[in-house]
Amino acid sequence: MPKENLFKKICFLFCMVEADYIEKVKETEIYKNCTNIVVGKGDLNADILFVGEAPGKNEDLEGLPFVGRSGKNLDEMLSKVGLNLEEIYIANILKCRPPENRDPLPGEIRAHTPWLLEQIKEIKPKVICSLGNYATKFFLSEGNVDKMKEQPGITQVHGKVKFVEIGGLKIKLIPLFHPAAIIYKRALLPLWEEDMEIVKKEVRETKEQKTLF
Ligand code: URA
Repeated sequence: MPKENLFKKICFLFCMVEADYIEKVKETEIYKNCTNIVVGKGDLNADILFVGEAPGKNEDLEGLPFVGRSGKNLDEMLSKVGLNLEEIYIANILKCRPPENRDPLPGEIRAHTPWLLEQIKEIKPKVICSLGNYATKFFLSEGNVDKMKEQPGITQVHGKVKFVEIGGLKIKLIPLFHPAAIIYKRALLPLWEEDMEIVKKEVRETKEQKTLF
């Protein structure tokens, strides 16, 4: 096959794949009720990817993750550990706001996370930090939604380095407390800061080893 045709075929297949994961999201009930699809924000070349649960009311209105109260708290906490959005990309498990901020449903997680996996492939982060229980359990179950309930909670695994594989992607995971939880429980803040030192160390080491991806 001539090179040009092969290139066109690859582009065509890639567009099909892209359309496929967006279409899956559009098929879910929460897509019909949301104002904006919230894809992510930050640096697409970031070493660190933060993954939260789902957009809230403010995120839904603005079309960006973590712009509400927990987002403000996250910005403050990041600057305290010497980081900002230029070094991080932030996305969510769900791309649309669940009504009344209810918990994500298994079918929604199944439908929305192929998009997240595409984001991981594109960004190639050195470390992924799952924020809170839902995101952590998704990664620990290696994307098997039926096994999420069996996974340990964030209190047990925060700050621990875990190696997981989802859809062929090898991931270095460090779970963190969700910024919203820290608003209500300030005693978690020093733990979050300690965990972020582990994140920074792992990023440094991964860069030196050049092993991941
Ligand atoms: N909480 C999340 O998990 N994600 C957001 O985008 C906002 C709040």
